[in-house]
Amino acid sequence: MSLGVSRPRIEGPGKVTGGVRYAADEPVKNLAFGCIVTSTISRGRVADIDIAAVQGMPGLLGVIDHRTAPRLTPGVGSYFGPDDALQLLQDDTVPHAGRPIALVVAETLEQARAAADALPVNYVAEPHNTLFSEDNSAARPATPLYGPDLVIGDLAAELAASAAVVDEAYSTPEENCAAMEPHSATAWWDGDRLEAIDTNQGPFSIATVLSALFGLDLARIRIRAEHVGGGFGAKGMCGPQLILAVMATTMLGRPVRVSLTRHQVFLATGMRPPTVQRMRLGADADGRLRAMQHEATFSLSPLADYVEGFPELTKTLYAATAIHTKITAVPLDTVPPFSMRGPGATPGSFALESAMDELAERLGMDPVQLRLRNEPSVGPVSGLPFSSRNLVACLEEGARRFDWAARDHRPRLRREGRLLVGTGVAATSFSAGAFPSTASITAEVDGTFSVVIGASDIGTGARTALTAVAAEALGVGVDKVRIHIADSTLGPAWSAGGSRGTTSWTWAITEAAAQLRGHTGELPFTATADTAQLLELLATQERHSYSAVFAEATVDPATGEVRVRRLLGMFAIGRVVNPLLARSQVVGGMIGGLSMALHEEAVRDRHTGRPVNADFAGYHIAAHADIPDIEADFVDDHEPGIPLGVKGAGEIGNVGTAAAVANAVWHATGIRQRTLPLRLDRVLE
Ligand code: MOS
Repeated sequence: MSLGVSRPRIEGPGKVTGGVRYAADEPVKNLAFGCIVTSTISRGRVADIDIAAVQGMPGLLGVIDHRTAPRLTPGVGSYFGPDDALQLLQDDTVPHAGRPIALVVAETLEQARAAADALPVNYVAEPHNTLFSEDNSAARPATPLYGPDLVIGDLAAELAASAAVVDEAYSTPEENCAAMEPHSATAWWDGDRLEAIDTNQGPFSIATVLSALFGLDLARIRIRAEHVGGGFGAKGMCGPQLILAVMATTMLGRPVRVSLTRHQVFLATGMRPPTVQRMRLGADADGRLRAMQHEATFSLSPLADYVEGFPELTKTLYAATAIHTKITAVPLDTVPPFSMRGPGATPGSFALESAMDELAERLGMDPVQLRLRNEPSVGPVSGLPFSSRNLVACLEEGARRFDWAARDHRPRLRREGRLLVGTGVAATSFSAGAFPSTASITAEVDGTFSVVIGASDIGTGARTALTAVAAEALGVGVDKVRIHIADSTLGPAWSAGGSRGTTSWTWAITEAAAQLRGHTGELPFTATADTAQLLELLATQERHSYSAVFAEATVDPATGEVRVRRLLGMFAIGRVVNPLLARSQVVGGMIGGLSMALHEEAVRDRHTGRPVNADFAGYHIAAHADIPDIEADFVDDHEPGIPLGVKGAGEIGNVGTAAAVANAVWHATGIRQRTLPLRLDRVLE
C-alpha cells in the first residue's frame, strides 16, 4: 500500500540545504540579464524612450521596446479567452500602471538595473479610471464561462414569505498572489530549439501559449519548471518574464534571464480583483432556506476577459426554493485580474457564509444547525446527483472537536481580561474533477518503473504524491518508481491549477499503469495513456470537495486588533494520497484565508492609479506570529468514478476561512464586519 501513507517530500532535503535550483538559480553559460521597465502612468501612450541616453552605460547589451521587439501573433489567449496582456512591446499604448514597456539587457543584473533606472521615458497621459465602484457606467455582464446568470424560482415571493431575511453587501479588496518566489525565466536557443526554465504552474500549457505567440512549432520549444516557489494562480499564465526573455534571447543571440522584482510582481502579474457582493437570504422560522440571491461585481481589464466565479458555493452548498445569481464586471485601467487562491469561491464564500451567520443570528439558531438543515439531496441548481458529499460529516466532526456544543450563540458574552472572545464557523466546497492529461510509464529491465508526466510541483509535493500514486497503481513499492515531471516535452498535461492537478495526473498515471500490468513481453516496455476520452463520464454528477472551518478570535476593544487563536478545518477531499502533504496543503490554505481575513489589501493611489503598497512592507501577509494553533484533518471520503478515489485538495483550505474568522469577530463583538480585511480601524468603528 502506497496511498494514505505520510511520506516527506522527495525534494525536501534538497530544498532545505539549498541544493535544488529554482528558475533564477540555474547556472547558464554566457548569461545576460534583463531588467523590465514598467510604465508609471495608468493610461496613455509612450511618447519616447531615449535609448541613446543610456548607450555606453557599463555592460549594456541592448534595450528592447515596442519599436524593436519581435512581432507577436495577435489574439493568443489563455483559459479565459484572448489575452492582450501577453502582447508585450507591440505598440506604444499604456493600458495600466506597471505595464512592461521596455527590457534593458546587460552583462549583469546590477548593470541592467542601473540602465533601466536611468532610461528616460516620456508619456502622453490620458485620463484613467482605476477606482473600483459598482456605479461604473461601463459595467457589463461577466462572460458566461461558468454558466449564465441564474434564475430559479420566484425570489420576490420567497423573500416575502420568509420569516427572516438577510439583505447585506460584502466587500473584498484587490489582492496579490504574492508567491514567495518572484516570477523568473531563463531562455536560450539550442540550435533551432527554444529552451526555457520558467516559474509557472504548467510547463505544457505555457509552451502552448508561447508557441502560438511566437509562431513557433511546439516541437521546437522546451520549457521546464523543475522547482517553483509557490504559484497561487499568478503563475498559471504565460508571464511577462518568459515572453521578454524569449524576445531578448532571440534578438541578442545569447541566454537571457528576466526576473521580476517583488514590486514588479505586484505591478505586472495577475491579481484577485476587488469585489462587492450583495447577498439576500430568506428562510422559514425553522431555518429552511426559501431564497438565495447572490449579485456580485468585480473589476476587469479591457485587455483580457476573466470571470470571478463567485456563486460557486451559492449553487452548491444549500437547498433553496429560489436561487438567483448574477455577475457584473467593471472594466478598469489595471493589470488584468487572474485566478488567485480559490478564485471565485473564496470571495464568494466570504459573502455567502457571512450572510448565513447573519441569518442564524436573526433566527436565533445555531449556525451549524442552520447549515445542516439546508443540506440538499441533489445539486440545488444542476439537479444532478452529487458524486459524493461529506459536508455533514465535516460539520459534525468539526463541531465535536471544537466543542461547539458548549458555545453560547449570543454575541459579546465572553471576555478574558480586556479581550473579547468569539467563535465562528463556515461551510465550504470547491469544485472538483479532472482535465485531460497524458502519462507514460516504462517498465525497466531492472524491475523499476520510470513515470513521465508533464505535471508541476509548485510547492505542493506533487512529485511525492504522484510517486505514491504510480506505486499504488503498479502494485510496487515507492522505491521502485522514478518520476519525471515539469517539462513541456513530456506530453500534454493539466497544470497545477483549479485544484485538479493531482486528480488529472493520477488518472493518466493509473491508465498507463493498467496498460503495463497486462504486459508480459520483453523489457523495457513503455505504456502511454491519454485521458482525453475518459473524462466525459464526469459530466453526469456534481463533484466537489467539502470542508467546515471553525475559528476562535480575540478582539481588543481598545485597539481594534483581531487575533485568531484557534483554527480547525475538517475536510472531505476524497482519498488522501499522503496525509502529511495534504495537511500541509490545507493548513497553508487556511493561513491564506486568515491572511485574507485580517491583512491582505492592495491599495491604489486615487490620482495616479498606481499601487501604493506594492511590496512586502506595505502589503501585509500573515506571518508566523499571526498564525495560531491550526488543526486540520480529513473525514473518511472516497470519490467514486475517479481512479483511486482521489479528489482535489489544492484550494479548498483557502475558501471558508475568512468568513469563519469574520463570524468569530461578530460573536466576540456583536458587530458585523462586512468588508475585508478586518482592519483595526474598521473593527474600532
Ligand atoms: Mo489556482 S488559483 O486555480 O492556480
